[in-house]
Amino acid sequence: MIKVSGERDQINIAKVYKAGQDHILRFWDELDYDSRKKLLAQIDGIDFQLVTRLAKGLGSDEHKKPGRTLGRAAVVRAPQTPQEHQARRVALEEGEKAIRAGRVALLTVAGGQSTRLGLDRPKGEFPIGPITRKSLFQLFAEKITALRKRYGAQLPWYIMTSEATDSATRAFFERNSYFGMPRSKTVFFKQRMLPAVDRRGKMLMTRKDEIFMSPDGHGGSLLALQESGALAQMEEDGNDILFYFQVDNPLVVVADPAFIGHHLLEGAEVSCKAVRKTLPLEKVGVFASVDGKTVVAEYSDLSEEQQELQDEEGELVFGFGNLAIHLFSVDFLKRVLATEQKLPYHTSFKKTPHIDKNNHLVQPRKPNGYKFETFVFNTLEFSEKTLVVETLRADEFAPVKSTTGADTPENAVRMLTNMWGRWLAACGVHVPLDGKGDVQGVIEISPLFALDQAQLAENVKAGTEFTGQLCLEP
Ligand code: UTP
Repeated sequence: MIKVSGERDQINIAKVYKAGQDHILRFWDELDYDSRKKLLAQIDGIDFQLVTRLAKGLGSDEHKKPGRTLGRAAVVRAPQTPQEHQARRVALEEGEKAIRAGRVALLTVAGGQSTRLGLDRPKGEFPIGPITRKSLFQLFAEKITALRKRYGAQLPWYIMTSEATDSATRAFFERNSYFGMPRSKTVFFKQRMLPAVDRRGKMLMTRKDEIFMSPDGHGGSLLALQESGALAQMEEDGNDILFYFQVDNPLVVVADPAFIGHHLLEGAEVSCKAVRKTLPLEKVGVFASVDGKTVVAEYSDLSEEQQELQDEEGELVFGFGNLAIHLFSVDFLKRVLATEQKLPYHTSFKKTPHIDKNNHLVQPRKPNGYKFETFVFNTLEFSEKTLVVETLRADEFAPVKSTTGADTPENAVRMLTNMWGRWLAACGVHVPLDGKGDVQGVIEISPLFALDQAQLAENVKAGTEFTGQLCLEP
């Protein structure tokens, strides 16, 4: 066993050996003082018992619970009838009251590594504005600023970063004067990281003095909220409702008051937004019911038959996809954190660059490393009362995920333009569409000019014309 001086380091090194991970100390003799210190600090942050448990279970995802009978989940449909519209109006008022009363805090999870998009900076910096090319972060900041003004509320914004995104994210906000948000109400906090392991359960190294680590999933937000003191701060500030959204969805209706109202009127602990699947086999997690509880079932947990299953009216039984837009009661989060039972870990097998025993960099062509993450939607399994509210994809969901496939930045930009086009058309502006129903041209409306169609109707000048490009800023 290698020799170290401090007591804590000695204990940690013993843990490394006990866990059978001593290959991470292979280059110890070649390391200088700073490198040794760095490696010891990383080791100090690793829960070796957890890694051992996860490595033992490779190939058997611990979140998968075989034998569960999935039923249909109850969903509040997007309003169509006069009664449903009336119910929505009541919910809207209730939600607005809660926002005005300062009960709502906001959480953006922005700790992911954006591997599919292949960015060299945090995804929140992605230039999404169709004309201005303003970033996702700026777009959200403008939405929040407009809401703060509308409701005279603080709406503190908590942003979860990770070791992978933290310093760049903070620097981006600094460089841009926090996009007008008060610094005291824009709070960054970091999630934990976890090592990745190879097929034999051995941790991978990126350098002689560095273990490969990746963020522990968006489910890590719960622990990170607690460890950073954010949860305690929310309680001190009287925020008892947390609006959760991901950094990659520019269409999100931040702090949607009708959603908040439904959540409160229903006495829900967790609420989720849902959209109808575009196709029965769409690869999206769907809402289902298990023993009376609403859960999110991953598409891989459903057979093709289940995915295509229809009721008598021809509606898909598992037809509502999870948007990753949630409301949590702060008390619920505290309760989940206090229970012994933890969120299950999901395993993914990915190409993971690393060094071999001769310090040669290996760029694998095939997956070689297991990463472990917890998912925020697994909190539903702890909830006594969950509400699912349907919304329309075109109005609220355009995730920026990948350079290919359905969820590209180009698609998100098109959906933004189309949504703003619909708002303008409703205000009487002529907006020509092409054969596919897309706006012919490009439109951008700053949330500071209009947060929604109703506000646009108040602010748009009479005689406004659209001639292929229109940018409305305050
Ligand atoms: P995704 O699972 O889509 O991951 O995250 P990603 O990082 O954006 O992209 P890939 O999978 O590497 O290509 C959904 C949301 O959850 C956040 C992301 O930042 C994004 O907002 N997230 C994900 C975290 O905050 N932490 C994590 O550990 C994982």
